[in-house]
Amino acid sequence: MTPKDFFIGLSQNKLLNDLAKKYGLQLGAKSVVAGTNLEELMASVKELNAQGISTTIDNLGEFVSDKKEAIEAKEQIIQVIEAIHENNANAHISVKATQLGLDIDYHFCLENVKEIVEKASKYNIFINFDMEDYSHLQPSFDLIDELSKDYDNIGTVIQAYFFESGENIEKYKDYRLRIVKGAYKEPENLAYQDKKEIDRNFIELIEYHLLHGKFTSIATHDHHIINHVKRFVDEHHISKDKFEFQMLYGFRKDLQLQLAKEGYQFCTYVPFGSDWYGYFMRRLAERPQNINLVAKQVFNK
Ligand code: FDA
Repeated sequence: MTPKDFFIGLSQNKLLNDLAKKYGLQLGAKSVVAGTNLEELMASVKELNAQGISTTIDNLGEFVSDKKEAIEAKEQIIQVIEAIHENNANAHISVKATQLGLDIDYHFCLENVKEIVEKASKYNIFINFDMEDYSHLQPSFDLIDELSKDYDNIGTVIQAYFFESGENIEKYKDYRLRIVKGAYKEPENLAYQDKKEIDRNFIELIEYHLLHGKFTSIATHDHHIINHVKRFVDEHHISKDKFEFQMLYGFRKDLQLQLAKEGYQFCTYVPFGSDWYGYFMRRLAERPQNINLVAKQVFNK
């Protein structure tokens, strides 16, 4: 078993997930999760905004199987939208369809996300649909197709490890898109497994959307990719208002600030809330060196 398989396995363990909710931010999660309540969240957002960095807020939670929990998640997200508006924060929202009931019933989920998108559209706040594992890919695109009949404040994510990502980026090129490598464990018949192949496809998708798409969010901590994008936009005279770089809260903070200082639009993905466990374990799966974050926090108490 690889370290990646090990941490992805842990990320899906329900018992550990429940325990994590009960005992609050532990295991080093504090450095990569911006608190468990709205006050802590808004303090982090304001601090980033003051440094010229915008934010996308994720009210943590996923794979919800209980209607009550999904409705609670929707209400919390609506509170975050209100808080963004009241604080005049430079922020938008990232949501996961499984947090809002996609595994319970498609139409139940659609009603939940509609309420969120409707509320956000009144305040001109953008809603990004994060993409989860392959089994939720098509239903998530279906939600987006349905919502875009009435709203234009929505966008989504293209995961470069999927073979079908090229077709999807063509189909959704007129949306604001976040392009990522992909965080879940996917089988060989659906997704590239080799890092070089994923990176190659990632670059192809980014270049395609920069040239043909609407606004592009390039979400990566990989400086090789970032440097490639910087050269590419220069060579093709792509204006800085057509794209942004994104990274996760707490990772490569110096590089985040440096890119913002260089005049690139920069957006930090800010997760918050008590349901931090699955998110945190996926970060360890991506990069076992992230275990350093754990060690630092355990020993620097
Ligand atoms: P990767 O982990 O491949 O690392 C490449 C290289 O970058 C490393 O070898 C190292 O040199 C350098 N590096 C990376 N991290 C570093 C660090 N912390 N310190 C120093 N050097 C480092 N996934 C998904 O499936 N659905 C989604 O909706 C999203 N959303 C999302 C939003 C945002 C803002 C981000 C940044 C990422 C996502 N992801 C995601 C996760 C994404 O798919 C991917 O799993 C991670 O970003 C890890 O891949 P990277 O491109 O960051 O570099």
